[in-house]
Amino acid sequence: MEANKKRILVTAALPYANGPVHIGHLAGCYLPADIYVRYLKAIGKEVLFICGSDEHGVPITIKAKKEGITPQQVVDKYDGIMKNAFQSFGIDFSYYGRTSSKVHHKTAQEFFRHLYEKGVFEEEVTQQYFDTEAQQFLADRYITGTCPRCGNPGAYGDQCEKCGTSLSPTDLINPKSALSGAAPVLKETKNWFLPMGKLQQTDAFQDYIKRFDHWKSNIKGQCASWLNEGLQSRAMTRDLDWGVPVPIEGADGKVLYVWFDAPIGYISATKEAISAKSQEPTASSLSWQDWWQNEETELVHFIGKDNIVFHAIIFPMMLMTHGKYILPSNIPANEFLNLEGDKISTSRNWAVWLHEYLIDFPNREDELRYVLTSIAPETKDSEFTWKDFQTRINSELVSIFGNFVNRVLVLCDKYYGGIVPEVTEVETHNALEKVKEPRRICFEQIATSIADMEQNLKEVKLRDAQVNFMSIARAGNKYLADTEPWKLYKTDEAAVKGILFDALQICAKLAIAAEPFLPHTSKKLVGLLGLNQVSWLQLSSEVIVPAGLQLNKPEILYKQVEDEEIAKQLDRLAQIKLANSQVTQSSNLAELKPNINWEDFDKLDLRVGKVIEATKVPKADKLLNLTVDLGFEKRTILSGIAEYYQPEELVGKLVTVVANLAPRKIRGIESQGMLLMAGNDFGKLFSVSPEQDIEPGSVVK
Ligand code: 2FM
Ligand code: ZN
Repeated sequence: MEANKKRILVTAALPYANGPVHIGHLAGCYLPADIYVRYLKAIGKEVLFICGSDEHGVPITIKAKKEGITPQQVVDKYDGIMKNAFQSFGIDFSYYGRTSSKVHHKTAQEFFRHLYEKGVFEEEVTQQYFDTEAQQFLADRYITGTCPRCGNPGAYGDQCEKCGTSLSPTDLINPKSALSGAAPVLKETKNWFLPMGKLQQTDAFQDYIKRFDHWKSNIKGQCASWLNEGLQSRAMTRDLDWGVPVPIEGADGKVLYVWFDAPIGYISATKEAISAKSQEPTASSLSWQDWWQNEETELVHFIGKDNIVFHAIIFPMMLMTHGKYILPSNIPANEFLNLEGDKISTSRNWAVWLHEYLIDFPNREDELRYVLTSIAPETKDSEFTWKDFQTRINSELVSIFGNFVNRVLVLCDKYYGGIVPEVTEVETHNALEKVKEPRRICFEQIATSIADMEQNLKEVKLRDAQVNFMSIARAGNKYLADTEPWKLYKTDEAAVKGILFDALQICAKLAIAAEPFLPHTSKKLVGLLGLNQVSWLQLSSEVIVPAGLQLNKPEILYKQVEDEEIAKQLDRLAQIKLANSQVTQSSNLAELKPNINWEDFDKLDLRVGKVIEATKVPKADKLLNLTVDLGFEKRTILSGIAEYYQPEELVGKLVTVVANLAPRKIRGIESQGMLLMAGNDFGKLFSVSPEQDIEPGSVVK
């Protein structure tokens, strides 16, 4: 969807302030947002680019526990680190806020109270998981278990990061407290729910989702699957002590759900941006309401795919029930970036951290921007490898773009002392047959590349747009290779002047067009060309660098990435892999649980069962639906073993069944028991079966 309105408010997902930023963050959301914003500004749009630290939620408190510091200390530490990394890579936010700020707390509370007073919420007492050891309710990421949809054993209480499904703690199979590892108990508590099922039926929402037709297919797909299943009410409050306090009576000790307060962070950061900028001489006269409550503004959210449901469904529902706000016009969500064949993971330290890159590759921020845009996971997950990083820089940035600019600047320096040659007879070089045709082809190619690049930028197809950008340099190189001015210099000086004059104009076009993608390079090249200011409009001008202008001394734009630099990075990753595998081996065997008494064990009713039917559960990679004969009755049991057993292998097999486990609904099917399996978190699973044939129903004790 193109940005056609007067103003564009661009947001980039507020990163949790619980760790430094890595290449996955940059490629997924911040770099594409920045490229888009820089382009919009270049074409003269009024843009506000908002981001900030997400400082609430369980990820912060878990980190604080791990590091033995307070949540406030965690966010204070990482807010600065993240902000600096973004700044170094040229991510040019208009404002970077924090959700711990006073303005944010007030804004989020007012928003909640407004919905509360309008009677939007359902107030409900429900059973929530509680850790009796830690004496705490286990919301969101305080609880882990097996995802009922894909069988991932490490799903969180709010979301499975493997399949993207948004979950409630009670959806998890085998839930476990992330605080103590203990199995939680259910305890009653009151919370306020957004009635999403009801809101889904409203005309306003049905009208809003028509926009999805113009959005990327990943967002359409995820939302369609949510909406087809039918939305469920979702609690907007939590029994936690870290977050924005719920601003109504009877809610002591409760805070707003982090996914309620975080997107409101975009609004509070806008308010802060306006008041911070009001002191500046060039301050705009726009108010925060102009950005959020005026149909002349377009709202565009840049996010990663794990944030889709929150931005495409929940936040818009909050905005529309409030009544005054505009809704997003586009949500260009990216897929994930992997690293050297594995998923990027903060906890396993499997990442390229931006603050470390800045030390190992000083002043080479644009090189990483270039590579990450080349491999941007726009339509599917993509992969960063150090070898590919080296190849793309050496054979594209250095050999094509850098080399073209350098050749032109060096030749002008050598032939004309760095003064832009006067092309007195404009047609001189056209007269030469050797020059005429290559020149025509070159400028035609450049005009097409610029037009394609602009179209792709408008449509947020940034990978393609960057390819178009590089085609300008390719065309320039070809022009030089075809006309060989270094050979003509002795025989046809006038033609050489013409060629180099052209080539300088191409360098200037590159300097202008590079700005969204490679802002540091763009600035440097503008300086090398002796220009003060350039504008996007000049991309279609014939003359940007005027004759007689003194150029600056040539300098290379990019240096080669050496094999040793890559070897060092690969070595670092190899060490991390080794360390991880050692941790994995030692943690393969689960820790021994505390003793239980005889009575506790005696409560279990374990029986031998015979599998008489086994089928895969549709759309759940890991689940099998088994019919198990217990002698006295047949049971339906869902088991997360599809990765280890083909359904047909199980039919006829004797298994051990926990026969008195309370039934539980998984994906709409009631599972009436559990099979005992031997295994660990990483290896294969084996069913615990009697060694000899014995009749189904026999007691296991
Ligand atoms: O996934 C995350 O990192 C969240 N902190 C993103 C929040 S985006 C917005 F809603 F603030
Ligand atoms: Zn899953």
